[in-house]
Amino acid sequence: MKIHMFKSAILALAAAVLAGCASITTRQGDNGKMMQVKLTNGMTVPQLGFGTWTLKGDVAKESVKCAIQAGYRLIDSAQGYGNEADVWAGVVASGIPRNEVFITTKIAPDVMREGTVRASIDASLAAFGGTYIDLLLIHWPVKGKLEETWRIMEEYVRNGKVRAIGLSNCNPHHIDEILAVATIRPVVNQIEIHPYMTQQEVAGATFAKGLQVESWGPLGQGKNGVLADLEIAKIAAAHGKSAAQVIIRWHLQRGLMVIPRSSNPAHIAENLQVFDFELTPREMQVISGLNRNERTFEKNDPETFPW
Ligand SMILES: NC(=O)c1ccc[n+]([C@@H]2O[C@H](COP(=O)([O-])OP(=O)(O)OC[C@H]3O[C@@H](n4cnc5c(N)ncnc54)[C@H](OP(=O)(O)O)[C@@H]3O)[C@@H](O)[C@H]2O)c1
Repeated sequence: MKIHMFKSAILALAAAVLAGCASITTRQGDNGKMMQVKLTNGMTVPQLGFGTWTLKGDVAKESVKCAIQAGYRLIDSAQGYGNEADVWAGVVASGIPRNEVFITTKIAPDVMREGTVRASIDASLAAFGGTYIDLLLIHWPVKGKLEETWRIMEEYVRNGKVRAIGLSNCNPHHIDEILAVATIRPVVNQIEIHPYMTQQEVAGATFAKGLQVESWGPLGQGKNGVLADLEIAKIAAAHGKSAAQVIIRWHLQRGLMVIPRSSNPAHIAENLQVFDFELTPREMQVISGLNRNERTFEKNDPETFPW
């Protein structure tokens, strides 16, 4: 049975590689369906999405197009990535209607410091084809600028240009600062989470305050060693899955939204094949036990980030 599952996974992957991204089917998962989460504003969104940090120009466009055609329906961008228009070009090229794709972008810290938040949101809206933004986040909790920024973000929800607003890289006290002044509640806190930085406490506190937690750097940015971890490799072999698929599944079973990035069509397809197996409670525990509180980059601390 396990050998059979492993063979099917390899065959599906080989077919995707041979076919190239354009002909990857639009199925969401193999035997299972894309998992969804409900946000506190009533919106239901895909739990697994597609990250775009570092992807620019044609690579961003082609990767986003490939991801949407493979079945992703949630795309994560940011003003700071310099790729909003490229991401939009990928959405358009995918041929999937705008209202079937959930687009997240984020307000950059320098914009908050300079007091140009409105102009930046207008520029983001223009980059996304003059349509709307599904979810707009504060990218980093710039000291002394949270309330002012939040008020402006609320204006854009009221005028219908932004559907939901949220936070990123916030510790519980930052969330409290927003909740104290919010007339529209934040729905998400996007934070760094992977097996070497499990963030049990921040994630738990975030959920307890009614915000959905979303994992960034879910695969350790492909550079911190989690994809080659021996414990994860053992679990992957037991399921006939790759390390990346096991890690993504661990995020999903924790109830986290997760947005792995790839510019490789085979990886893009592979990372979506995570709805046809389940990790046992023991396997979940083993992966969570790998925690080292180790950020992919030490300066990514929400209390001291220098940008
Ligand atoms: N809010 C924030 O401050 C913040 C910060 C960072 C990131 N993010 C968001 O979170 C998204 C994801 O995080 P991330 O991009 O930093 O890192 P990530 O998704 O953890 O890792 C991406 C790396 O993993 C590799 N990879 C992907 N799938 C793979 C697979 N199946 N097998 C082997 N390698 C694989 C990719 O290489 P290939 O291209 O070769 O597949 C790439 O090098 C970002 O793209 C961005 O949208 C947000």
